Amino acid sequence: MTPLRQPPFTVLSGPEVAEQIEGSRPELVTVVRRAYLAHAAERSSLPHSSFLRFAGRERDRIIALPGFLDDDDPVAGIKWISSFPGNREHGLARASAVLLLNDMATGYPQACMEASIVSATRTAASAVLGAEALVGDRRAARIGFIGTGLIAGHVHRFLRDLGWRTDGYLLHDVDPRAAHRFAERALADGVPAATVLDDGDAVLSAADLVVLATVASTPHLTRPESLEHRPVVLHLSLRDLAPDLVLRSQNITDDTDHAVRERTSLHLTEQQVGHRRFVDGTLADVIEGRLVRDPDRPVLFSPFGLGVLDLAVGRWVHRRVVADGGGHTVPDFFAQTS
Ligand SMILES: NC(=O)c1ccc[n+]([C@@H]2O[C@H](COP(=O)([O-])OP(=O)(O)OC[C@H]3O[C@@H](n4cnc5c(N)ncnc54)[C@H](O)[C@@H]3O)[C@@H](O)[C@H]2O)c1
Repeated sequence: MTPLRQPPFTVLSGPEVAEQIEGSRPELVTVVRRAYLAHAAERSSLPHSSFLRFAGRERDRIIALPGFLDDDDPVAGIKWISSFPGNREHGLARASAVLLLNDMATGYPQACMEASIVSATRTAASAVLGAEALVGDRRAARIGFIGTGLIAGHVHRFLRDLGWRTDGYLLHDVDPRAAHRFAERALADGVPAATVLDDGDAVLSAADLVVLATVASTPHLTRPESLEHRPVVLHLSLRDLAPDLVLRSQNITDDTDHAVRERTSLHLTEQQVGHRRFVDGTLADVIEGRLVRDPDRPVLFSPFGLGVLDLAVGRWVHRRVVADGGGHTVPDFFAQTS
């Protein structure tokens, strides 16, 4: 029997994480794709994420996402991510996060990393994976963004690095300065045109591929006619679309049990109609050919955000940083318990 050894405990900073991710986005889409397929093949354990909310502070929350990914190099862990939207008024990011990875031989935590970048990266990777599977190509004449904050920026960088082609972006944000800043960055990155519109419905009704990345807690896109041209909508912020729009669309999730809860648009729709038969399947179903896009309806991809994706990206980052001799190993972190 090989004796078990306590693993080193390593702390990875945000810049170390970001350095690995920059330049590797196409590979990270593959990492996320594999994690989705392992999850679909039941090679994972994924309790519902747990939402911690605070009385009298409607907008603030902290979410715990534990998980286990049982693939060729099993990993368990937990992401602990907070959302305090008021931070932005003080020049701070809305979301902050850590990811803990556990060694599967001893159960010991072996890495603690800054995880806002891991989280945004896996979210944007799943968005572009969904876009490609549902559009069937890396081209959309007009790409719309409603909500042009951090996540939208990461989606743009994935589209850029994967070589998506477009005639231009249509942008809307309740804070027009955010939309104009986004437009400038997109143009500097070679997007041929970027137009800021003062109405979310105008973006939804004119773009072929639409990214929803707001912080809306209740539906604000309520006009079914905005979907008449049958776009592909990446509903990352999950709570923007009224049930009427959900019901006239083909609905794809990452995991339906996870996505139809916590006051998402899918959850509100279930509460309205008393069932969830309007959900057609998952992205893994589309990737593996069990479900095809219905050309006669708009399609909504509503990924709840699975903890196994954070684990897959976090494990990839951890390996790369350690292989490069980075990270800060804390020698006496664990109490001696032998
Ligand atoms: N599904 C997932 O896996 C997943 C993962 C991470 C984040 N998210 C969600 O993505 C969303 C965006 O996150 P972020 O980090 O980019 O936030 P952010 O605060 O950086 O940006 C949000 C932007 O949306 C704008 N906005 C708010 N309400 C709006 C509205 N009604 N219409 C238009 N614009 C509006 C804000 O002004 C801001 O610019 C959040 O809702 C977050 O919960 C989803």
